[in-house]
Amino acid sequence: MTSFYLSNPYQPPQAPKNLPLNEPWALFGGISPDAFMKQYWHKKPLLVRGAIPAFTLARNSHEDLGSPISAESLFNLASDDLVESRLIQSKPWSFESGSFKKKSLPKLAQRDWTLLFQGMEAHHPAAAKVLSWFRFIPDARLDDLMISIAGIGGGVGPHFDSYDVFLIQMSGRRQWQVSAQKDLSLNPKLPLKILQNFAVEHEWILEPGDMLYLPPHIAHDGISLDTGCQTWSVGFRSPSFKELLQEGLWRLAESLEDIPELDHKFADPKQRASKQPEQLPLELIMQLEQKLKGLKLDQLSQFLPGISAYLSEPKQQAYFNGPDIPLTPKQFTQRLGSHALAPHPQTRILALNQDIFCNGERVTKGQTGQIQRAWASLASKKALICKDLKETGGSSLYEAYLCGWLVFNS
Ligand code: SIN
Ligand code: CO
Repeated sequence: MTSFYLSNPYQPPQAPKNLPLNEPWALFGGISPDAFMKQYWHKKPLLVRGAIPAFTLARNSHEDLGSPISAESLFNLASDDLVESRLIQSKPWSFESGSFKKKSLPKLAQRDWTLLFQGMEAHHPAAAKVLSWFRFIPDARLDDLMISIAGIGGGVGPHFDSYDVFLIQMSGRRQWQVSAQKDLSLNPKLPLKILQNFAVEHEWILEPGDMLYLPPHIAHDGISLDTGCQTWSVGFRSPSFKELLQEGLWRLAESLEDIPELDHKFADPKQRASKQPEQLPLELIMQLEQKLKGLKLDQLSQFLPGISAYLSEPKQQAYFNGPDIPLTPKQFTQRLGSHALAPHPQTRILALNQDIFCNGERVTKGQTGQIQRAWASLASKKALICKDLKETGGSSLYEAYLCGWLVFNS
């Protein structure tokens, strides 16, 4: 299998604007996203042969279709500081985080190594397009698209993830072994999270264009069978309730800054002489109770803005660069009439009813109706063209453009 170096790269299409959610999709082996969500999502694995029909068509006409990203481009990304990469070697097991000097990387033809690249949707348009196919799953659940490239025998070892993941085979073949075993104990002697015991229940060899969906906690091991084997994994996070409540409470505490009356000091003109001065005064307890009731701190609606802000935070490694020569507010408004403004690939946008959260901030707060509608379009369509936008100077939209969170498609 060496010919795929010379093959035509597969060019993934952008998903259509309105995804047909109750029609059969090849990506799910002829079932609809509705049916996939009901029968498989977060429940059981699904193997799809020919999930990307272009690969099957090419094979049938004796052509080779290669990954949209060449092995060479991936090796170049491994030395880029802005790309999160890892190198895992399996004989013996070793783990290193990037970036890497070119010389310290294994040669493509060597065995038993794999390079992993997180957040690839930010670094290559083809990865962003593949991600767009899955936009029937809430944005709040999406983590990123990871790409692995491996030499023969390469893999990360038998393990489990806490994530739902779609494993798309893009180049070469990979053998997948999976197990729904209950024993998920890890081998304490290894530098990687590798299962102590792995009792294989199913085994498949995936060819380019095949896909395997795995819900969380299914033990799995993928071993590369070909030089330059590429697997593209679309991963979905699910935060713990502890994380959500801690983050929500923390932001709720911060939001008390906006309530000036809370600066008033506790006053106790009704305090009587006490025989138990060590006890917290009842007067303080009663007044606090009144305040808590008044602020409705026990109601979910108070938490959701903070939780939305948290879930809209970009990845830690995200890096935004404002425009070199920024447009003035007037030029910005004019440009919006003819060019689409889009979220930078590392920008996260979430909506909570009419409120929009971008990269951890409630960007609709205190904005005009027009700007709020512009953000709603960016959240739902991931694009904005707006001919009649009035003054944008000082708006959160213009600020987000200056920060590099929003960019014009040239
Ligand atoms: C890989 O692509 O090599 C590993 C993906 C995974 O097992 O989660
Ligand atoms: Co995994």
